[in-house]
Amino acid sequence: MHRSHTCGELSINDLGKEVILSGWVQKSRDLGGMTFVDMRDRYGITQLTFDSEDNASLRAQARELGREFVIKVTGKVIERSSKNLKIPTGEIEIKVGSLEILNSAKLPPFMIEDETDGGDDLRMKYRYLDLRRNPVRNNLVLRHKMAQEIRKYLDGLDFIEVETPVLIKSTPEGARDFVVPSRMNAGEFYALPQSPQTFKQLLMVSGFDRYFQIVKCFRDEDLRADRQPEFTQIDCEMAFIEQEDILNVFEGLIRQLFKNVKGVDLAEVPRMDYADAMRLYGSDKPDTRFEMKFVELNDIVKGLGFPVFDNAELVVGINAKGAAEYTRKQLDELTDYIKRPQIGATGLIYMRHNADGTLKSSVDKFYNEAELQKWSAAFSTAPGDLVLVLAGTTEKVRKQLNELRLEMGTRLGLRDKNTFAPLWVLDFPLLEWDEEKGRYHAMHHPFTSPKPEDIALLDTKPGEVRANAYDMVINGTEIGGGSIRIHDRALQALMFKHLGFSDVEAQNQFGFLMDAFEYGAPPHGGIAFGFDRLVSIFAGLDSIRDVIAFPKNNSGRDVMIDSPSVIDQKQLDELKIKTVN
Ligand code: AMO
Repeated sequence: MHRSHTCGELSINDLGKEVILSGWVQKSRDLGGMTFVDMRDRYGITQLTFDSEDNASLRAQARELGREFVIKVTGKVIERSSKNLKIPTGEIEIKVGSLEILNSAKLPPFMIEDETDGGDDLRMKYRYLDLRRNPVRNNLVLRHKMAQEIRKYLDGLDFIEVETPVLIKSTPEGARDFVVPSRMNAGEFYALPQSPQTFKQLLMVSGFDRYFQIVKCFRDEDLRADRQPEFTQIDCEMAFIEQEDILNVFEGLIRQLFKNVKGVDLAEVPRMDYADAMRLYGSDKPDTRFEMKFVELNDIVKGLGFPVFDNAELVVGINAKGAAEYTRKQLDELTDYIKRPQIGATGLIYMRHNADGTLKSSVDKFYNEAELQKWSAAFSTAPGDLVLVLAGTTEKVRKQLNELRLEMGTRLGLRDKNTFAPLWVLDFPLLEWDEEKGRYHAMHHPFTSPKPEDIALLDTKPGEVRANAYDMVINGTEIGGGSIRIHDRALQALMFKHLGFSDVEAQNQFGFLMDAFEYGAPPHGGIAFGFDRLVSIFAGLDSIRDVIAFPKNNSGRDVMIDSPSVIDQKQLDELKIKTVN
């Protein structure tokens, strides 16, 4: 027997018990004739004592233990003289009667402590040691709890979990595919799914009615803190529903998760049109933990001789409440921030509403006190507020002001990780102009249905057609997205035509789906949540890497197993792949 108890469960109620414990040596210290060893497992830490007076050779053995040795002890639960009330086992210790070393350990390359001295690269190389640390393990425990809760909720609503294939077919839409060569079909390739989109739609044609899957997806795109090349979706689809049904069912899922996993009661999730999100926040994923909405100034600032404003398509600003005290240096910093190439603004104009009530702007030459009063009214400023204004072409200036708003939100402490502001963004455009390719592409995916009342615009103003598509955003992160689908062959064919597919291309790529639509496809729609993103928001973390057991680094590498890697010539030959060297 390796253990009668775990290292996290013995307490003052167990005094006198003879126990067997197994685990890792966290640390040990000598004090006079005694050695104290902290022994750790997943459940906690228990203190062991070895006393020279009781058993000198046993104590000598204990002094040889190194950090992370795997040991088994038998002993008696006794009361501690100096208690540690911060941990559940802190009132007791084990007076050890026998010690067995199950395995020795090399000195770990970093401290296995909550706060470690290991840098990112080292921790990733030895991820199995990193996973011994409480904060990292706790993230995976949270992930597990959330997955259980999701299955419980969806099962309760008659959703069926169905696995879909991982070796599928490459398609040109969306992100870049990861591909896998087929040995049995030389020269041909599978693709790994970017999502199970077409399969879940086929399951609706099959009559499954309600499907879900917690599923790995693969996208060969540039990586960021909230993107991994392989990530997990909570993928869902429903038949005989309308958009409203989907919003209600999945708002229910998010609320149940917050309640049962975090103990947070969410209010009803507010809704906003895409167009409003862009106008008021300059983003389709606004962080609504704080207000600071955009105010457009064209009507009040143009025509007074200030060329930057006169020549701009849009003059727009925000009111950073309470920031009027910002020094010249701080304002210069902000200007530098938005002038960085990633943001690309040309300059920043500001107006202080001083504590004494006066208004002072960086463009006083063009705008007198009476004009500034109009600014003040537009932004509803109060003494102490700072108005920040940008000007330029609409799309660009909105993006830039979005960055500035988020930066000010951070600086002013308005983006608290324990505040949760979910939001539905609705009515996305169906199509988006692709500068590079010189054509439209589907903003969500090509299976998304246009709003029936906008179909007529497809030929005349394609960019203005709205889709039955929706995203869920929490704290400025897109955590889920979906749509009502096209379920009619003719409309699907029309969509492909607008996306620049010839009939032959459409048939080659998606013929199976369009064929299926001819065998009784029900109206259907769905959504997929980014599970890693959702867990990282619950955990209050900035990067999804921390909620993935074995993540990849920013170059898409797993530095622990050293992948990707070259493969043998023999493997290449079998696959009939020639490498260029
Ligand atoms: P979409 O492409 O919007 O929709 O993806 C759904 C959600 O998946 C998450 N996500 C990612 N998470 C981590 N790393 C990535 N590289 C990554 N890419 C996406 C996001 C996103 O909201 N089939 C459709 C869904 C549908 O229409 O039902 C789809 O995949 O949180």
